[in-house]
Amino acid sequence: MLSYRHSFHAGNYADVLKHIVLVEILQHLAKKQKAFEYIDTHAGAGLYHLASVQAEKLREYRNGIGRLSVADWPELADYLSVIAAVNPDQGLTYYPGSPVIAQHFMRPQDRSWLYELHPQDAELLLQNMNKDRRVRVMHEDGLKGLLSLLPPVSRRGVVLVDPSYEIKSDYDAVVQTIVRAYAKFATGCYAIWYPVVERSRISRLETQFINSGIKNIQRFELGVTADSAQRGMTASGMIVINPPWQLMATMNSLLPKLVSTLSDDAAAYYKCDILVAE
Ligand SMILES: C[S@@+](CC[C@H](N)C(=O)[O-])C[C@H]1O[C@@H](n2cnc3c(N)ncnc32)[C@H](O)[C@@H]1O
Repeated sequence: MLSYRHSFHAGNYADVLKHIVLVEILQHLAKKQKAFEYIDTHAGAGLYHLASVQAEKLREYRNGIGRLSVADWPELADYLSVIAAVNPDQGLTYYPGSPVIAQHFMRPQDRSWLYELHPQDAELLLQNMNKDRRVRVMHEDGLKGLLSLLPPVSRRGVVLVDPSYEIKSDYDAVVQTIVRAYAKFATGCYAIWYPVVERSRISRLETQFINSGIKNIQRFELGVTADSAQRGMTASGMIVINPPWQLMATMNSLLPKLVSTLSDDAAAYYKCDILVAE
């Protein structure tokens, strides 16, 4: 039973961090003429209406994308260009999900594989991909689907793993799947999102990655307040395997300014570190 709907959270501070990292990776892949593949194991609906009943209920986007202006953030021009592309009236009515962000940076030779298990979101995703012939939408389990796709035909690509972690076993399932995926496609880039709700779960996730035998792993985390057992999600992060060479420097320069823009709390913080060296 899937109860999570991303429409309640679209454009929040966690989406902002995740999508900035994703844009950096996609742009790096698009520098070479050779095709790349984008694989999204937990794709969501692709596009979110910020005035929908769901988005308006929590208004999380107001403390996320709602705080970033083009004028203040020239260094995020590429990410913000995707937001502008889905809001032709220049307002902030829609927020793009990861499949639409990837589609924005894909060239004719690139391909996208999108998995979404929720029946309504899978249907919305299909509509939002607008019969793009480069894109395949699959109403299937993304972690299982990923293993059947690898290695991708182009031998170049990025895998975004972005579960809602509704089921506690999702944390272990993510690590186990990535280890198997890496064995089939060791040169791929993998970007794994995680929420900090209970710090011990993330410490365990980190340790599992560090001990996995996988090389070249970086981590970027942004916390809007200190860890807390009571407050729900207080931070989120991205673990990136085989990151683009410039990603660490870019995130090191972006994260301090993102922290002060996205949080008013003195305990807000960021982490930018190497979990496993090359
Ligand atoms: C955090 S949302 C994805 C957001 C999206 N990646 C983005 O950045 O715009 C997680 C999605 O995964 C879906 N989901 C949950 N379990 C899944 C599974 N095993 N396989 C594929 N999708 C799943 C949920 O229905 C939900 O839409």
